[in-house]
Amino acid sequence: MKLPNGPQIPAVLQMVRWISNPMSFMEACAKRYGETFTMRLEKNSPPLVIVSNPEALQQILTNDTKEFEAPGDLNGVFESLLGKHSVITISGAEHQRQRQLLMPPFHGERMRNYSQVINDVTQKVISQYQIGKPFNIRSATQAITLRVIMQAVFGLHEGTRAEKLQQFLGEVLEKGSSRLLVALLYFPVLQRDFGPINFWGKQMRRQQESDELIYEEIRERREQADSSRTDILSLLMAATDEAGEPMTDEELRDELMTLLVAGHETTATALAWALYWIHKLPSVRQKLLEELDSLGDNPDPSIIFKLPYLNAVCSETLRIYPVGIITFPRVVRTPLSLSGYELEPGTVVLGSIYLTHHREDIYPEPKQFKPERFLERQFSAYEYLPFGGGARRCIGLAFAQLEMKLAIAKILSSLELQLVDNGEVRPKRRGLVTGPDRPIEMVVTSQRQVKSPILQTTTV
Ligand code: HEM
Repeated sequence: MKLPNGPQIPAVLQMVRWISNPMSFMEACAKRYGETFTMRLEKNSPPLVIVSNPEALQQILTNDTKEFEAPGDLNGVFESLLGKHSVITISGAEHQRQRQLLMPPFHGERMRNYSQVINDVTQKVISQYQIGKPFNIRSATQAITLRVIMQAVFGLHEGTRAEKLQQFLGEVLEKGSSRLLVALLYFPVLQRDFGPINFWGKQMRRQQESDELIYEEIRERREQADSSRTDILSLLMAATDEAGEPMTDEELRDELMTLLVAGHETTATALAWALYWIHKLPSVRQKLLEELDSLGDNPDPSIIFKLPYLNAVCSETLRIYPVGIITFPRVVRTPLSLSGYELEPGTVVLGSIYLTHHREDIYPEPKQFKPERFLERQFSAYEYLPFGGGARRCIGLAFAQLEMKLAIAKILSSLELQLVDNGEVRPKRRGLVTGPDRPIEMVVTSQRQVKSPILQTTTV
Protein backbone atom coordinates (compact mmCIF):
# COMPACT_ATOMS: atom_id res chain seq x y z
CA MET A 1 0.00 0.00 0.00
CA LYS A 2 1.29 3.48 -0.89
CA LEU A 3 -0.37 6.27 1.04
CA PRO A 4 -0.93 9.64 -0.67
CA ASN A 5 2.05 12.01 -0.35
CA GLY A 6 2.27 14.50 2.47
CA PRO A 7 4.65 16.64 4.47
CA GLN A 8 7.90 14.94 5.48
CA ILE A 9 8.62 17.14 8.51
CA PRO A 10 8.58 15.31 11.89
CA ALA A 11 5.15 14.47 13.32
CA VAL A 12 5.60 16.81 16.25
CA LEU A 13 6.11 19.77 13.89
CA GLN A 14 3.06 18.76 11.88
CA MET A 15 1.12 18.68 15.13
CA VAL A 16 2.35 22.18 16.02
CA ARG A 17 1.11 23.48 12.66
CA TRP A 18 -2.16 21.60 13.07
CA ILE A 19 -2.74 23.13 16.48
CA SER A 20 -1.60 26.65 15.60
CA ASN A 21 -3.34 27.07 12.23
CA PRO A 22 -5.07 23.97 10.86
CA MET A 23 -6.64 25.79 7.91
CA SER A 24 -3.44 27.20 6.47
CA PHE A 25 -1.69 23.87 7.15
CA MET A 26 -4.31 21.98 5.13
CA GLU A 27 -4.24 24.58 2.36
CA ALA A 28 -0.44 24.42 2.11
CA CYS A 29 -0.55 20.59 1.97
CA ALA A 30 -3.26 20.57 -0.72
CA LYS A 31 -1.28 23.07 -2.80
CA ARG A 32 1.87 20.99 -2.63
CA TYR A 33 0.57 17.40 -2.61
CA GLY A 34 -2.85 17.63 -4.27
CA GLU A 35 -6.43 17.14 -3.09
CA THR A 36 -5.63 13.88 -1.25
CA PHE A 37 -2.66 13.92 1.11
CA THR A 38 -1.36 12.31 4.30
CA MET A 39 -0.62 14.07 7.60
CA ARG A 40 1.27 12.55 10.52
CA LEU A 41 0.45 14.25 13.78
CA GLU A 42 1.79 11.64 16.21
CA LYS A 43 4.81 9.40 15.80
CA ASN A 44 3.13 6.31 17.20
CA SER A 45 -0.37 6.80 15.78
CA PRO A 46 -1.61 5.91 12.31
CA PRO A 47 -1.16 8.56 9.59
CA LEU A 48 -4.24 10.54 8.56
CA VAL A 49 -5.38 10.61 4.94
CA ILE A 50 -7.12 13.92 4.21
CA VAL A 51 -9.80 13.93 1.50
CA SER A 52 -11.61 16.82 -0.20
CA ASN A 53 -12.82 15.28 -3.43
CA PRO A 54 -16.65 15.05 -3.44
CA GLU A 55 -16.67 11.59 -5.04
CA ALA A 56 -14.24 10.26 -2.45
CA LEU A 57 -16.28 11.90 0.32
CA GLN A 58 -19.40 10.24 -1.03
CA GLN A 59 -17.65 6.87 -1.06
CA ILE A 60 -16.59 7.32 2.56
CA LEU A 61 -19.74 8.83 4.02
CA THR A 62 -22.21 6.48 2.32
CA ASN A 63 -20.20 3.45 3.43
CA ASP A 64 -19.13 4.35 6.94
CA THR A 65 -20.92 1.40 8.49
CA LYS A 66 -19.76 -0.97 5.72
CA GLU A 67 -16.33 -0.67 4.03
CA PHE A 68 -15.45 2.04 6.55
CA GLU A 69 -16.33 2.54 10.19
CA ALA A 70 -16.63 5.65 12.33
CA PRO A 71 -15.11 4.57 15.65
CA GLY A 72 -15.55 6.73 18.73
CA ASP A 73 -12.24 5.68 20.30
CA LEU A 74 -10.45 7.84 17.71
CA ASN A 75 -12.29 10.83 19.16
CA GLY A 76 -10.34 10.52 22.42
CA VAL A 77 -9.43 14.21 22.23
CA PHE A 78 -13.01 14.95 23.33
CA GLU A 79 -13.02 12.45 26.20
CA SER A 80 -11.73 14.65 29.01
CA LEU A 81 -14.65 17.03 28.47
CA LEU A 82 -17.45 14.80 27.18
CA GLY A 83 -16.60 11.51 28.92
CA LYS A 84 -16.39 7.96 27.60
CA HIS A 85 -20.16 7.46 27.28
CA SER A 86 -20.72 10.41 24.93
CA VAL A 87 -22.30 9.66 21.53
CA ILE A 88 -19.08 11.17 20.10
CA THR A 89 -16.74 8.75 21.92
CA ILE A 90 -18.73 5.48 21.63
CA SER A 91 -18.69 3.15 18.61
CA GLY A 92 -20.58 0.58 16.55
CA ALA A 93 -24.01 -0.68 17.56
CA GLU A 94 -23.94 1.24 20.84
CA HIS A 95 -23.29 4.47 18.93
CA GLN A 96 -26.15 3.82 16.52
CA ARG A 97 -28.54 3.03 19.40
CA GLN A 98 -27.61 6.20 21.23
CA ARG A 99 -28.12 8.29 18.08
CA GLN A 100 -31.61 6.82 17.66
CA LEU A 101 -32.36 8.03 21.15
CA LEU A 102 -30.94 11.52 20.69
CA MET A 103 -32.23 12.38 17.23
CA PRO A 104 -36.02 12.69 17.69
CA PRO A 105 -35.86 15.83 19.89
CA PHE A 106 -34.00 17.59 17.08
CA HIS A 107 -36.52 16.86 14.32
CA GLY A 108 -40.01 17.63 13.04
CA GLU A 109 -42.71 18.66 15.47
CA ARG A 110 -40.35 18.95 18.41
CA MET A 111 -38.48 21.71 16.59
CA ARG A 112 -41.59 23.89 16.53
CA ASN A 113 -41.46 24.17 20.34
CA TYR A 114 -37.96 25.59 20.15
CA SER A 115 -38.94 28.49 17.84
CA GLN A 116 -40.65 30.39 20.63
CA VAL A 117 -37.70 29.79 22.97
CA ILE A 118 -35.21 31.05 20.34
CA ASN A 119 -37.28 34.20 19.75
CA ASP A 120 -37.77 34.95 23.44
CA VAL A 121 -34.14 34.32 24.40
CA THR A 122 -32.82 36.40 21.48
CA GLN A 123 -35.15 39.26 22.38
CA LYS A 124 -34.02 39.14 26.00
CA VAL A 125 -30.31 39.03 25.19
CA ILE A 126 -30.39 41.87 22.63
CA SER A 127 -32.48 44.11 24.87
CA GLN A 128 -29.42 44.40 27.14
CA TYR A 129 -27.37 46.24 24.51
CA GLN A 130 -27.58 50.01 24.65
CA ILE A 131 -27.39 52.43 21.75
CA GLY A 132 -23.83 53.61 21.17
CA LYS A 133 -22.15 51.07 23.50
CA PRO A 134 -19.93 48.57 21.64
CA PHE A 135 -20.18 44.87 22.49
CA ASN A 136 -18.58 41.64 21.32
CA ILE A 137 -21.05 39.94 18.99
CA ARG A 138 -19.77 36.44 19.76
CA SER A 139 -20.47 36.92 23.47
CA ALA A 140 -24.02 37.96 22.55
CA THR A 141 -24.58 34.98 20.25
CA GLN A 142 -23.04 32.64 22.83
CA ALA A 143 -25.46 33.94 25.48
CA ILE A 144 -28.33 33.19 23.08
CA THR A 145 -27.25 29.69 22.05
CA LEU A 146 -26.30 28.60 25.58
CA ARG A 147 -29.69 29.58 26.99
CA VAL A 148 -31.53 27.98 24.08
CA ILE A 149 -29.72 24.64 24.44
CA MET A 150 -30.22 24.71 28.22
CA GLN A 151 -33.95 25.00 27.59
CA ALA A 152 -33.95 22.14 25.07
CA VAL A 153 -31.83 19.86 27.25
CA PHE A 154 -33.13 20.63 30.74
CA GLY A 155 -36.35 22.53 30.05
CA LEU A 156 -34.93 25.53 31.91
CA HIS A 157 -32.51 28.39 31.46
CA GLU A 158 -33.45 30.47 34.47
CA GLY A 159 -32.98 29.79 38.16
CA THR A 160 -29.83 29.59 40.26
CA ARG A 161 -28.61 26.17 39.09
CA ALA A 162 -29.20 26.93 35.42
CA GLU A 163 -27.47 30.28 35.69
CA LYS A 164 -24.49 28.79 37.55
CA LEU A 165 -24.21 26.00 35.00
CA GLN A 166 -24.29 28.52 32.14
CA GLN A 167 -21.53 30.49 33.82
CA PHE A 168 -19.30 27.44 34.48
CA LEU A 169 -19.81 26.04 30.99
CA GLY A 170 -19.00 29.43 29.48
CA GLU A 171 -15.75 29.49 31.49
CA VAL A 172 -14.81 25.88 30.66
CA LEU A 173 -15.20 26.55 26.95
CA GLU A 174 -13.61 29.98 26.98
CA LYS A 175 -10.46 28.70 28.72
CA GLY A 176 -10.58 25.50 26.67
CA SER A 177 -10.43 27.49 23.45
CA SER A 178 -6.79 28.49 24.06
CA ARG A 179 -4.04 26.84 22.01
CA LEU A 180 -2.31 25.75 25.20
CA LEU A 181 -5.29 23.74 26.35
CA VAL A 182 -5.74 22.27 22.88
CA ALA A 183 -2.09 21.16 23.01
CA LEU A 184 -2.80 19.44 26.33
CA LEU A 185 -5.77 17.66 24.75
CA TYR A 186 -3.62 16.37 21.89
CA PHE A 187 -0.74 15.37 24.21
CA PRO A 188 -2.38 13.42 27.07
CA VAL A 189 0.98 12.90 28.84
CA LEU A 190 0.95 16.63 29.59
CA GLN A 191 -2.47 16.45 31.25
CA ARG A 192 -1.22 17.10 34.76
CA ASP A 193 -0.05 20.00 36.85
CA PHE A 194 3.52 21.24 36.70
CA GLY A 195 4.13 23.02 40.02
CA PRO A 196 2.78 26.52 39.74
CA ILE A 197 1.59 25.89 36.15
CA ASN A 198 -1.64 24.15 37.01
CA PHE A 199 -3.60 25.01 33.89
CA TRP A 200 -4.93 21.48 33.45
CA GLY A 201 -5.93 21.12 37.11
CA LYS A 202 -7.81 24.41 37.04
CA GLN A 203 -9.68 23.36 33.94
CA MET A 204 -10.59 20.00 35.51
CA ARG A 205 -11.88 21.76 38.62
CA ARG A 206 -14.08 24.06 36.51
CA GLN A 207 -15.43 20.96 34.78
CA GLN A 208 -16.11 19.25 38.10
CA GLU A 209 -18.18 22.24 39.16
CA SER A 210 -20.34 21.93 36.04
CA ASP A 211 -20.60 18.16 36.56
CA GLU A 212 -21.82 18.58 40.13
CA LEU A 213 -24.64 20.82 38.93
CA ILE A 214 -25.61 18.33 36.22
CA TYR A 215 -25.60 15.44 38.75
CA GLU A 216 -27.71 17.54 41.16
CA GLU A 217 -30.27 18.11 38.41
CA ILE A 218 -30.35 14.37 37.56
CA ARG A 219 -30.79 13.45 41.25
CA GLU A 220 -33.60 15.93 41.69
CA ARG A 221 -35.39 14.61 38.59
CA ARG A 222 -35.12 11.03 39.84
CA GLU A 223 -36.68 12.07 43.15
CA GLN A 224 -39.45 14.17 41.60
CA ALA A 225 -40.33 12.32 38.38
CA ASP A 226 -42.68 14.37 36.17
CA SER A 227 -44.04 12.52 33.13
CA SER A 228 -45.34 15.72 31.52
CA ARG A 229 -41.83 17.08 30.85
CA THR A 230 -40.67 16.98 27.23
CA ASP A 231 -37.05 18.11 27.60
CA ILE A 232 -34.17 15.87 26.47
CA LEU A 233 -33.05 14.94 29.98
CA SER A 234 -36.54 13.56 30.78
CA LEU A 235 -36.52 11.63 27.53
CA LEU A 236 -33.11 10.10 28.22
CA MET A 237 -34.08 9.21 31.79
CA ALA A 238 -37.18 7.36 30.55
CA ALA A 239 -35.21 5.36 27.93
CA THR A 240 -34.04 1.78 28.55
CA ASP A 241 -31.68 -0.51 26.62
CA GLU A 242 -32.71 -3.90 25.23
CA ALA A 243 -32.10 -5.48 28.64
CA GLY A 244 -34.56 -2.98 30.12
CA GLU A 245 -31.80 -1.05 31.94
CA PRO A 246 -32.03 2.75 32.16
CA MET A 247 -29.01 4.98 31.56
CA THR A 248 -26.69 5.44 34.54
CA ASP A 249 -26.03 8.89 35.99
CA GLU A 250 -22.59 8.91 34.42
CA GLU A 251 -23.99 8.04 30.99
CA LEU A 252 -26.61 10.75 31.35
CA ARG A 253 -23.97 13.30 32.37
CA ASP A 254 -21.80 12.53 29.34
CA GLU A 255 -24.69 12.81 26.88
CA LEU A 256 -25.99 16.03 28.43
CA MET A 257 -22.55 17.59 28.40
CA THR A 258 -22.14 16.55 24.73
CA LEU A 259 -25.38 18.25 23.72
CA LEU A 260 -24.69 21.34 25.82
CA VAL A 261 -21.20 21.78 24.36
CA ALA A 262 -21.82 20.66 20.74
CA GLY A 263 -25.17 22.44 20.79
CA HIS A 264 -24.04 25.94 21.56
CA GLU A 265 -20.33 26.60 20.82
CA THR A 266 -20.67 25.86 17.12
CA THR A 267 -23.95 27.70 16.57
CA ALA A 268 -22.71 30.74 18.53
CA THR A 269 -19.73 31.06 16.20
CA ALA A 270 -21.82 30.50 13.06
CA LEU A 271 -24.27 33.17 14.17
CA ALA A 272 -21.47 35.63 14.95
CA TRP A 273 -19.93 35.07 11.49
CA ALA A 274 -23.33 35.56 9.82
CA LEU A 275 -23.83 38.89 11.60
CA TYR A 276 -20.30 39.92 10.67
CA TRP A 277 -20.84 39.27 6.95
CA ILE A 278 -24.31 40.83 6.92
CA HIS A 279 -22.94 44.06 8.37
CA LYS A 280 -19.68 44.02 6.48
CA LEU A 281 -21.41 43.83 3.10
CA PRO A 282 -24.18 46.47 2.85
CA SER A 283 -25.81 44.85 -0.19
CA VAL A 284 -26.24 41.58 1.72
CA ARG A 285 -27.91 43.40 4.62
CA GLN A 286 -30.13 45.36 2.24
CA LYS A 287 -31.39 42.25 0.43
CA LEU A 288 -31.96 40.44 3.70
CA LEU A 289 -33.94 43.34 5.17
CA GLU A 290 -36.10 43.54 2.06
CA GLU A 291 -36.89 39.86 2.38
CA LEU A 292 -37.57 40.02 6.12
CA ASP A 293 -39.58 43.25 6.00
CA SER A 294 -41.84 41.82 3.31
CA LEU A 295 -43.19 39.44 5.97
CA GLY A 296 -44.48 42.20 8.26
CA ASP A 297 -44.80 41.95 12.04
CA ASN A 298 -44.35 38.65 13.89
CA PRO A 299 -43.93 36.33 10.91
CA ASP A 300 -44.44 32.61 11.36
CA PRO A 301 -41.11 30.86 12.17
CA SER A 302 -41.77 28.23 9.52
CA ILE A 303 -41.97 31.01 6.89
CA ILE A 304 -38.72 32.56 8.13
CA PHE A 305 -37.09 29.13 7.98
CA LYS A 306 -37.90 28.86 4.25
CA LEU A 307 -36.78 32.36 3.16
CA PRO A 308 -34.46 31.83 0.16
CA TYR A 309 -32.02 34.70 0.71
CA LEU A 310 -31.75 34.15 4.47
CA ASN A 311 -31.07 30.48 3.75
CA ALA A 312 -28.39 31.46 1.21
CA VAL A 313 -26.70 33.80 3.72
CA CYS A 314 -26.62 31.08 6.41
CA SER A 315 -25.34 28.48 3.93
CA GLU A 316 -22.59 30.78 2.65
CA THR A 317 -21.59 31.61 6.25
CA LEU A 318 -21.03 27.91 6.95
CA ARG A 319 -19.31 27.40 3.60
CA ILE A 320 -16.68 30.09 3.75
CA TYR A 321 -15.59 29.51 7.36
CA PRO A 322 -17.06 26.17 8.44
CA VAL A 323 -17.00 25.91 12.23
CA GLY A 324 -16.07 22.22 12.07
CA ILE A 325 -13.27 22.06 9.50
CA ILE A 326 -12.95 18.26 9.34
CA THR A 327 -15.26 15.30 9.84
CA PHE A 328 -14.62 12.86 12.64
CA PRO A 329 -12.17 10.13 11.52
CA ARG A 330 -13.41 7.18 9.46
CA VAL A 331 -11.35 3.98 9.31
CA VAL A 332 -10.96 1.58 6.37
CA ARG A 333 -12.42 -1.83 7.25
CA THR A 334 -11.84 -3.86 4.07
CA PRO A 335 -9.14 -3.31 1.40
CA LEU A 336 -10.45 -0.69 -1.03
CA SER A 337 -9.53 1.87 -3.66
CA LEU A 338 -10.10 5.57 -2.84
CA SER A 339 -9.23 8.33 -5.34
CA GLY A 340 -6.81 5.91 -7.04
CA TYR A 341 -5.03 4.84 -3.82
CA GLU A 342 -5.25 1.25 -2.58
CA LEU A 343 -5.94 1.51 1.14
CA GLU A 344 -5.59 -1.25 3.70
CA PRO A 345 -7.78 -1.94 6.74
CA GLY A 346 -6.88 0.36 9.61
CA THR A 347 -6.12 3.41 7.42
CA VAL A 348 -7.64 6.53 8.96
CA VAL A 349 -9.35 9.00 6.61
CA LEU A 350 -10.73 12.46 7.39
CA GLY A 351 -12.99 14.60 5.20
CA SER A 352 -11.67 18.16 5.00
CA ILE A 353 -14.83 20.24 5.09
CA TYR A 354 -12.75 23.42 4.83
CA LEU A 355 -10.83 22.37 1.70
CA THR A 356 -13.97 21.01 0.01
CA HIS A 357 -15.76 24.32 0.63
CA HIS A 358 -12.82 26.22 -0.88
CA ARG A 359 -12.53 24.27 -4.14
CA GLU A 360 -12.38 26.65 -7.12
CA ASP A 361 -14.07 24.10 -9.39
CA ILE A 362 -17.19 24.03 -7.19
CA TYR A 363 -17.14 27.52 -5.69
CA PRO A 364 -15.59 30.08 -8.09
CA GLU A 365 -13.84 32.86 -6.11
CA PRO A 366 -14.02 30.73 -2.97
CA LYS A 367 -12.60 33.44 -0.69
CA GLN A 368 -15.48 35.78 -1.52
CA PHE A 369 -18.70 35.78 0.51
CA LYS A 370 -21.41 35.34 -2.12
CA PRO A 371 -24.79 34.04 -0.89
CA GLU A 372 -26.08 34.13 -4.49
CA ARG A 373 -24.15 30.94 -5.31
CA PHE A 374 -26.71 29.06 -3.22
CA LEU A 375 -29.57 30.61 -5.23
CA GLU A 376 -27.93 29.86 -8.57
CA ARG A 377 -27.25 26.17 -8.09
CA GLN A 378 -27.72 23.24 -5.77
CA PHE A 379 -24.68 21.59 -4.23
CA SER A 380 -24.54 17.90 -3.47
CA ALA A 381 -24.21 16.62 0.11
CA TYR A 382 -20.54 15.89 -0.63
CA GLU A 383 -19.73 19.29 -2.16
CA TYR A 384 -21.31 21.16 0.75
CA LEU A 385 -21.06 19.44 4.11
CA PRO A 386 -20.80 21.84 7.07
CA PHE A 387 -22.49 19.20 9.24
CA GLY A 388 -20.51 16.20 7.98
CA GLY A 389 -22.46 13.14 6.80
CA GLY A 390 -23.07 9.43 7.15
CA ALA A 391 -23.04 7.60 10.47
CA ARG A 392 -21.87 10.64 12.45
CA ARG A 393 -23.73 13.40 10.61
CA CYS A 394 -24.46 16.24 13.02
CA ILE A 395 -27.48 15.50 15.20
CA GLY A 396 -28.23 19.21 15.67
CA LEU A 397 -28.22 20.20 11.97
CA ALA A 398 -31.88 21.28 11.76
CA PHE A 399 -31.76 22.79 15.23
CA ALA A 400 -28.69 24.90 14.40
CA GLN A 401 -30.19 26.10 11.10
CA LEU A 402 -33.45 27.06 12.78
CA GLU A 403 -31.62 28.89 15.54
CA MET A 404 -29.39 30.80 13.10
CA LYS A 405 -32.31 31.90 10.94
CA LEU A 406 -34.69 32.91 13.72
CA ALA A 407 -32.01 34.74 15.72
CA ILE A 408 -30.82 36.67 12.61
CA ALA A 409 -34.42 37.57 11.71
CA LYS A 410 -35.12 38.80 15.25
CA ILE A 411 -31.88 40.79 15.54
CA LEU A 412 -32.13 42.44 12.12
CA SER A 413 -35.79 43.30 12.58
CA SER A 414 -35.22 44.84 16.02
CA LEU A 415 -31.90 46.68 15.78
CA GLU A 416 -29.81 48.76 13.44
CA LEU A 417 -26.31 47.41 14.04
CA GLN A 418 -22.91 48.47 12.76
CA LEU A 419 -19.45 46.95 12.90
CA VAL A 420 -17.20 49.13 15.05
CA ASP A 421 -14.43 48.74 12.50
CA ASN A 422 -14.60 47.40 8.99
CA GLY A 423 -11.27 45.54 9.13
CA GLU A 424 -11.04 41.94 8.06
CA VAL A 425 -11.67 39.14 10.54
CA ARG A 426 -10.28 35.74 9.68
CA PRO A 427 -10.93 32.28 11.13
CA LYS A 428 -8.56 30.65 13.61
CA ARG A 429 -8.61 27.60 15.83
CA ARG A 430 -10.95 27.94 18.79
CA GLY A 431 -10.63 24.84 20.96
CA LEU A 432 -11.43 21.82 18.81
CA VAL A 433 -13.38 23.90 16.29
CA THR A 434 -12.78 27.35 14.73
CA GLY A 435 -13.88 30.92 15.38
CA PRO A 436 -13.01 34.55 14.59
CA ASP A 437 -9.35 35.52 15.10
CA ARG A 438 -10.26 38.63 17.07
CA PRO A 439 -13.31 40.03 18.87
CA ILE A 440 -15.96 41.30 16.46
CA GLU A 441 -17.18 44.52 18.04
CA MET A 442 -20.60 45.82 17.04
CA VAL A 443 -22.72 48.73 18.16
CA VAL A 444 -26.48 49.41 18.14
CA THR A 445 -27.16 52.67 16.29
CA SER A 446 -30.95 52.67 16.71
CA GLN A 447 -33.98 50.48 17.33
CA ARG A 448 -35.87 49.26 14.29
CA GLN A 449 -39.61 49.08 13.88
CA VAL A 450 -40.86 46.73 11.16
CA LYS A 451 -44.02 48.08 9.56
CA SER A 452 -46.63 45.50 8.74
CA PRO A 453 -47.43 45.68 5.00
CA ILE A 454 -51.13 45.13 5.86
CA LEU A 455 -51.15 48.00 8.36
CA GLN A 456 -49.44 50.26 5.83
CA THR A 457 -52.14 49.77 3.20
CA THR A 458 -55.09 50.13 5.60
CA THR A 459 -53.78 53.36 7.15
CA VAL A 460 -53.25 55.07 3.79
C1 HEM B 1 -23.63 25.55 13.14
C2 HEM B 1 -23.68 24.61 14.05
C3 HEM B 1 -23.07 23.25 13.95
C4 HEM B 1 -22.08 22.78 13.11
C5 HEM B 1 -21.30 23.54 12.04
C6 HEM B 1 -21.89 21.38 13.45
C7 HEM B 1 -20.98 20.54 12.80
C8 HEM B 1 -20.82 19.20 13.08
C9 HEM B 1 -19.92 18.32 12.39
C10 HEM B 1 -18.99 18.72 11.23
C11 HEM B 1 -20.02 17.07 12.95
C12 HEM B 1 -19.22 15.82 12.54
C13 HEM B 1 -19.95 15.05 11.47
C14 HEM B 1 -19.19 13.93 10.82
O1 HEM B 1 -18.13 13.50 11.28
O2 HEM B 1 -19.68 13.43 9.78
C15 HEM B 1 -21.00 17.18 14.02
C16 HEM B 1 -21.36 16.14 14.85
C17 HEM B 1 -22.21 16.30 15.93
N1 HEM B 1 -22.96 17.42 16.26
FE1 HEM B 1 -22.93 19.20 15.31
N2 HEM B 1 -22.74 21.04 14.47
C18 HEM B 1 -23.48 22.15 14.80
C19 HEM B 1 -24.48 22.23 15.76
C20 HEM B 1 -24.86 21.21 16.60
C21 HEM B 1 -25.95 21.26 17.54
C22 HEM B 1 -26.90 22.44 17.71
C23 HEM B 1 -25.96 20.05 18.19
C24 HEM B 1 -26.88 19.53 19.28
C25 HEM B 1 -27.86 20.13 19.81
C26 HEM B 1 -24.89 19.25 17.65
C27 HEM B 1 -24.57 17.97 18.05
C28 HEM B 1 -23.67 17.15 17.40
C29 HEM B 1 -23.39 15.79 17.85
C30 HEM B 1 -23.97 15.10 19.08
C31 HEM B 1 -22.47 15.26 16.92
C32 HEM B 1 -21.83 13.87 16.96
C33 HEM B 1 -22.67 12.87 16.21
C34 HEM B 1 -22.11 11.46 16.29
O3 HEM B 1 -20.97 11.28 16.72
O4 HEM B 1 -22.85 10.55 15.92
N3 HEM B 1 -24.24 19.98 16.67
N4 HEM B 1 -21.48 18.48 14.06
